[in-house]
Amino acid sequence: MNAIENFYIESKIIVITGGAGLLGRKHAEAVIEGKGIPVLIDISESAINNAKDKMADIYGRNSRIEGYTADITKRTEIEQIADDLLKKYGHIDVLINNAANNPKVEGSAVNMKAIQFENFPLQMWMDDMAVGLTGAFICAQVFGKIMAEQRSGVILNISSDLGIIAPDQRIYQKEGLADDEQTVKPVTYSVIKHGLIGLTKYLATYYAEKGVRANTLCPAGVFNGQNEEFLSKLTNLIPMGRMADAEEYKSTILYLISDAGSYMTGSTVVVDGGRTCW
Ligand SMILES: NC(=O)c1ccc[n+]([C@@H]2O[C@H](COP(=O)([O-])OP(=O)(O)OC[C@H]3O[C@@H](n4cnc5c(N)ncnc54)[C@H](O)[C@@H]3O)[C@@H](O)[C@H]2O)c1
Repeated sequence: MNAIENFYIESKIIVITGGAGLLGRKHAEAVIEGKGIPVLIDISESAINNAKDKMADIYGRNSRIEGYTADITKRTEIEQIADDLLKKYGHIDVLINNAANNPKVEGSAVNMKAIQFENFPLQMWMDDMAVGLTGAFICAQVFGKIMAEQRSGVILNISSDLGIIAPDQRIYQKEGLADDEQTVKPVTYSVIKHGLIGLTKYLATYYAEKGVRANTLCPAGVFNGQNEEFLSKLTNLIPMGRMADAEEYKSTILYLISDAGSYMTGSTVVVDGGRTCW
């Protein structure tokens, strides 16, 4: 097999949680471009339909794309999807744990004082953990077991540059607001993103002899129309001086989920324009 062919994932079944979101859709595009079959799991049915339509526009109506509306915090819903996929295809090859509750604090017009650490509501802590960590745990349990039985598979956890470094709260602050009125990046984001790196290392070693690899990808902020003030503060912290384009993770995704990365497990791959070097 030559080096480029190793990137192909022909007919492989690639489950992507939060698959209808901004990056989830890009992971799915990478899968289609690698000749695999993306399986989008998302809590939002309309977002799934929208994502499938957009991909059909790009890759043609005959492209194979599966979509399931489900809540990853509900084990029975995930087991149902796994059963369904196994009946249909007989194998499940990759899980990308990508879903998250993503409060968009950057550039938000809403006063998010309530998410300051001192006021952070316990219920919000539990809801964020349920999706970001418990959901990833449930999916890894359900799909990991199948991969271990197959003696082959890949689990890819999507963390963040904020899984490596703490958020620089200064970039979320707005001029003219008192300290206790300022917006912050929520504590749950840091804890979940650091936690996913731990989950990866656990799974990588636990499953190493069963042919299942596990790695973490840490993307950094993706440009998505954020306001100028926020952009300038953030890009000052990034040696390359810009946010990522959502397209820029696709090749790394293909590397991590294909045989191109066959000797990589337990690793944390940081793709952040250099931000975590500073
Ligand atoms: N966008 C960025 O700048 C960026 C940077 C670094 C890391 N990340 C990480 O990448 C991942 C994707 O980010 P994004 O920007 O595409 O986010 P997004 O909010 O666009 O997508 C997240 C998706 O998860 C889905 N979801 C939420 N709860 C769910 C549940 N209980 N069950 C099933 N689906 C659920 C949402 O409906 C949404 O479609 C996240 O883990 C995020 O933390 C994003």
